[in-house]
Amino acid sequence: MSSVIVGAAESSQLSDVLRFWLTAAENEGRPADTPAALAALHLRDPDALIVALDGERIVGTVIAGWDGWRCHLYRLAVAPDRRREGIGAALVEAAERRFRALGGTRVDAMVLDGNERAHAIWAARGYHRQDDWSRWVKPLR
Ligand SMILES: CC(C)(COP(=O)(O)OP(=O)(O)OC[C@H]1O[C@@H](n2cnc3c(N)ncnc32)[C@H](O)[C@@H]1OP(=O)(O)O)[C@@H](O)C(=O)NCCC(=O)NCCS
Repeated sequence: MSSVIVGAAESSQLSDVLRFWLTAAENEGRPADTPAALAALHLRDPDALIVALDGERIVGTVIAGWDGWRCHLYRLAVAPDRRREGIGAALVEAAERRFRALGGTRVDAMVLDGNERAHAIWAARGYHRQDDWSRWVKPLR
């Protein structure tokens, strides 16, 4: 972790981030990420995509999405060979710093019920599951 730097992604790193997610992120039951979608995020809010870099190599990511109302975390992922070094925690901390600076007061994360590894890091970072809420979705065509 000592050689890892956490900061906003550059536009030149977007295709590497998409490749990184194929092996490092939770991809179950969700549509594939596209270059166009990631480019749109980066254009709208360049600081939302946070990467952890070891030299040139991407070893972690998180999206810290701020819509002016709520703070949402997505795509927290750490390279399989670099887990349990504190990189995930450093990414969550960086996202929370961004939200505080923007005036956010509460942050949430979308987490699969069966992803126990993820439950462990969210709980360790002070997040708790809300059992009285569910996510209601509708695809936009
Ligand atoms: C979940 C994930 C991001 C954790 O990243 P990480 O860099 O390994 O996490 P950290 O090293 O910062 O761990 C911080 C704390 O979280 C908890 N934790 C993280 N991974 C854990 C695991 N596999 N088992 C138990 N506790 C875990 C521990 O409390 C840990 O502190 P410790 O190492 O001092 O015990 C990583 O496992 C990952 O990329 N998983 C696949 C993608 C994914 O599921 N993302 C979450 C989507 S909601």
